[in-house]
Amino acid sequence: MNDRYRHVEALTRAFEQRFGKAPTLAARAPGRVNLIGEHTDYNDGWVMPVAIPYEVNVVAAPRADEQVCLVAHDLGEEATFALDDTQPSEDLWQRYPQGIAVKMQEAVHQLTGLDAVYGGDVPRGASLSSSAAVEVAFAGVFALAADILLPGPEIATIARLAENEFVGVPTGVMDQFISALGKEGHALLLDCRSLDYRHIPINLPGVSIVVMDTGVHRELANSEYRKRRADCEAAVERLRSRLPNIRALRDVTPEDLEANADVLDETQRKRASHVVTENARTLEAAEALEAGDAARIGALMQQSHESLRDRYEVSAPELDAVVEIATGTEGVIGARMTGGGFGGAAVALVQDGAVDGLKQALATEYPRRSGREATVFVCQAAEGAETRRLG
Ligand code: GLA
Repeated sequence: MNDRYRHVEALTRAFEQRFGKAPTLAARAPGRVNLIGEHTDYNDGWVMPVAIPYEVNVVAAPRADEQVCLVAHDLGEEATFALDDTQPSEDLWQRYPQGIAVKMQEAVHQLTGLDAVYGGDVPRGASLSSSAAVEVAFAGVFALAADILLPGPEIATIARLAENEFVGVPTGVMDQFISALGKEGHALLLDCRSLDYRHIPINLPGVSIVVMDTGVHRELANSEYRKRRADCEAAVERLRSRLPNIRALRDVTPEDLEANADVLDETQRKRASHVVTENARTLEAAEALEAGDAARIGALMQQSHESLRDRYEVSAPELDAVVEIATGTEGVIGARMTGGGFGGAAVALVQDGAVDGLKQALATEYPRRSGREATVFVCQAAEGAETRRLG
């Protein structure tokens, strides 16, 4: 399960069948789960995600012309686009690789045409960043094909631009950054303003990361995400009348907010309060993780979930249910919703001996509370994106 590049063999067979030759290049990029620091990235704040051992792989070979011929193995789709075609495809799946090509070229990287087949096992629609994994894997393979040395932070920046400006989803940089720069056994503490980052060793021996997918994906997640961003920007605008030097909620301390809350309306106060306290929690959680302080991390995860539920209002009954089931289970250190919210997955840190108990509790309690079944993934922090030549 933890083998890197584990889809390359199957994708190579598909490539040979389709193109009548062997691929020469491969790239892999993982999905992610965020341990803490939610809805902070687009507020210039801090996040602390881990890469998970579920990944997108691409196999490819350069072409003599400027075309990219793409096969989405898992979707059973195929498409061709020209490298100089900057018009986003009607098909959403195509926009990810095409957006990467467009944004790499805008960053003045000269690309070569490619035949490519991609696929993988990052669960889709579970807020585990399957789209960031596709973007980062394609950035890797385009760079390798054209002999471009692309450092991880630049891959993340290009992939975020592709997502924001080409796919059209106004995300922060977290998902692309962790996919590009994750490290086995470590979380990544990222300052989303400066892009300074530090790998934080997960000093919790005998503890697994358990991802609990609620099986719910709500369309309103996108529009609500935009609204939350707008609420935060409006709050900054108003706070600036008192705190002229702030650029984002990242610059506001919990004390500043308390002292100036009267300039905000009720909604803005709640949103801002989540962000400023979540930033503080994330920095504290990084220290606690490094120190192996399980009790502290558990408490911070709990506070984070409650703040997302009550003040940021991005949780969902199904997310609250899995988190409550987890926190009520012996041997669970902490649990919270993860990612954008309104469905998708929650994350828990769990003593290895307690994983079966948690699975059992979810299997009996969750259907009773939600009428659905949860899918559970048990893993450790995985390595970020890589590329290699084949053969
Ligand atoms: C989504 C976005 C991220 C981040 C999270 C919330 O996953 O892609 O950039 O904003 O939501 O923390």
